[in-house]
Amino acid sequence: MNIYLDYNATTPCDPRVVHAMLPYFTEIYGNPANGLHILGRKAARAIETAREQVAALLGSLGGEIFFTSGATESNHLAILGASEYAPSTRRKIITCAIEHKSVLAPCNRLRENGFDVIILPVDENGLVRLTDLENFLDENTFLVSIQAANNEIGTIQPIAEITALAHRYGALVHTDAAQAVGKIPVNVETLGIDLLSLSAHKLYGPKGIGALYVRGGKRKIALRPLLEGGGQENGLRAGTSNVPGIVGLGAACEIIAAEIGNESTRIQHLRDELEENLLAKIPNLRINARFAPRLPNTSNLTFNEEADALLLRLPCLMMSTGSACNTGAPEPSHVLQAIGLTRQQASSSIRISLGRMTKEEDIQVITEQIFSAIST
Ligand SMILES: Cc1ncc(COP(=O)(O)O)c(C=O)c1O
Repeated sequence: MNIYLDYNATTPCDPRVVHAMLPYFTEIYGNPANGLHILGRKAARAIETAREQVAALLGSLGGEIFFTSGATESNHLAILGASEYAPSTRRKIITCAIEHKSVLAPCNRLRENGFDVIILPVDENGLVRLTDLENFLDENTFLVSIQAANNEIGTIQPIAEITALAHRYGALVHTDAAQAVGKIPVNVETLGIDLLSLSAHKLYGPKGIGALYVRGGKRKIALRPLLEGGGQENGLRAGTSNVPGIVGLGAACEIIAAEIGNESTRIQHLRDELEENLLAKIPNLRINARFAPRLPNTSNLTFNEEADALLLRLPCLMMSTGSACNTGAPEPSHVLQAIGLTRQQASSSIRISLGRMTKEEDIQVITEQIFSAIST
């Protein structure tokens, strides 16, 4: 029996999401940019409905949601797009050491373009220290980009406190919420966020579609598009819209808005039970970021042996070492090293991420299989 334990890498598409998407492949296939015929108009209407569904989940307005190909693109659009309009007096960008590479890469590009890029360290639980942030914030700071939750260890950052501090210095705040949205409540108003990235395939929607929230209204954020020439997404993202994908993202967000409360409680209970079981059986087990505010589904475990070898002895448990995006790269996880693990410990770590299809009876099976694999 195979058990999928890699929901932070990607989630299966919820059958209700697939059902909502299907007509947009074969029946309502019009180009939404063409309002001259009914199929184009229906597709355009479906996009606007999805925009409202995403906005409702985030507590924003529909007009503040822009569809992209995923969180990687949203992160690039937010960071590179906003920096194009940075005043000449604000050339500093602050991010942190455990960001996803799709945040660190555009920040590095900005450094090449003359920005001063500060990479904050994190504590042993993966948390950014607000005192560190305040030490670097000044009137020259243009943007603070700190993730809402980490993909490998699940640490949830104090985003409301970060935005309050950053705004005091007139800086914008972007958050990569690819792992947070769908697992914990995220409200852009109460958190004070200016720009937020999310991805459909992390929340039981399809792959290749995501969104960027861009604050509108009086404090509207100006962004320069990465892709130009078609005028779609109010000029912010050219290219024929991925209508089935957008419909799927909207449907996925609506399901989450209705179910997140019960779902998170159930999953956290299973995760905690799994950790307790494993700790009881494996005395030297280390649970990374155990005492941080953590995503309810994520458990990152360090064993006394190489994770790759251990995974080979656990072919029925579909888990990952470090982040999926780093799979195949020889470097041990930059996240685990940033929270103080040695290279050896980092390469002896496994991420288990639970999700909607994880069942109570799986927990005993996972515990027994891991225990017998490490004892052999
Ligand atoms: C925190 C985080 N940011 C960004 C991404 C990239 O998302 P996407 O696959 O939608 O480009 C991921 C997924 O791997 C992620 O976990």
